[in-house]
Amino acid sequence: MTTILVTGGAGFIGANFVYHLLDGHPDVRVVCVDSLTYAGNMSTLERALADPRFVFYRQDIRDRDGIAAVFDKEKPDAVVNFAAETHVDRSIETPEIFLQTNILGTQVLMDACLAHGNTRFHQVSTDEVYGDLPLDRPDLLFTEQTPLHASSPYSASKAGADLLVMAYHRTYGLAATISRCSNNYGPYQFPEKLIPLMIANALADQPLPVYGQGLNVRDWLYVADHCKAIDLILQKGRIGQVYNIGGHNEMRNIDIVRLICQHLGKPESLITYVTDRKGHDLRYAIDPAKIHGELGWLPETSFADGIARTIDWYLANRPWWEQIVSGEYRDYYQRMYRDR
Ligand code: NAD
Ligand code: DAU
Repeated sequence: MTTILVTGGAGFIGANFVYHLLDGHPDVRVVCVDSLTYAGNMSTLERALADPRFVFYRQDIRDRDGIAAVFDKEKPDAVVNFAAETHVDRSIETPEIFLQTNILGTQVLMDACLAHGNTRFHQVSTDEVYGDLPLDRPDLLFTEQTPLHASSPYSASKAGADLLVMAYHRTYGLAATISRCSNNYGPYQFPEKLIPLMIANALADQPLPVYGQGLNVRDWLYVADHCKAIDLILQKGRIGQVYNIGGHNEMRNIDIVRLICQHLGKPESLITYVTDRKGHDLRYAIDPAKIHGELGWLPETSFADGIARTIDWYLANRPWWEQIVSGEYRDYYQRMYRDR
């Protein structure tokens, strides 16, 4: 049995990765560490908790002693670090927790890996570390050589963590890799993010708040394809390397929102243009040539299939997100959107 420690496994991509491992690798045990911030949800892990190959620790990655105790007990063969503060708008409101969790938490995990005989470490990063691209230069894409140029406290904290991972690899020989993925969508995404927010609001016939004119472009990837890419990097990636992950699927925000209206049979008159996000990145676009060439990875889910599956999932799993939007999220939504 191989033991993989997944941090942030009660969140969106981490939970999808937990199921990817449990369902696809019968020889893998999964140890999940998550402090259950507002973004973590135990109900997401209900099926995993019934599996004897799964164990959960409510544990903050910033807590050195707690992380050391989990390593001592579970002796992981590899660590995949998803745990992070992830929402750009929240990072504009309260940057400090982003620096603490995303940078210092990553350091704690890497120190634990070194203390346990150089445990394999994978850092789940983001294309946002590259800043943004102009809207009128479709020929430009982010490669692994693109300089780091973060725009928000969130992306700056992720870039800081990436620099620290590379420094730990060079200075201490940490057996580390980094992946930088574009925007994910799919089941279990917290409703503060564009796609689930628009689905939830449309179903409630509430306004659909599009920032600015809705012309910003994101490069969307179905979450299961991201999980497969991380798995491949863990198994075959070259130590000390960065791999970009994306599927050449650029879309304008407004087109996504219109598509959601169409799928749900809701009128576009629900769309409301609101004040733009501060420092709003214009366009992200990943060049995935390296992961394709070296590891043979290609996305398997088209956007048409993925978005239909995602909308169906939110329709079929109303209790999962209705419970979220009725809690702390209500205050957040009021704060973020009331006078916008
Ligand atoms: P998410 O916000 O849905 O989940 C984050 C999880 O981390 C939550 O379960 C939360 O409880 C946990 N967490 C937060 N702080 C913690 C701490 N101090 N200790 C332990 N656990 C903590 O995030 P997501 O969208 O699933 O993103 C996962 C990772 O993937 C992040 O590192 C993010 O930067 C990266 N990423 C996300 C996307 C995307 O489109 N969502 C794209 C590329 C990369
Ligand atoms: O690119 C990867 C990143 O994608 C991840 O690293 C982040 O963790 C993840 O949150 C995501 O960041 P974005 O800022 O791109 O995602 P978000 O869903 O917040 O917004 C997507 C786009 O939609 C962005 O241009 C802002 C816009 N938007 C978002 C919300 C929540 C709106 O127009 N209205 C909204 O209400």
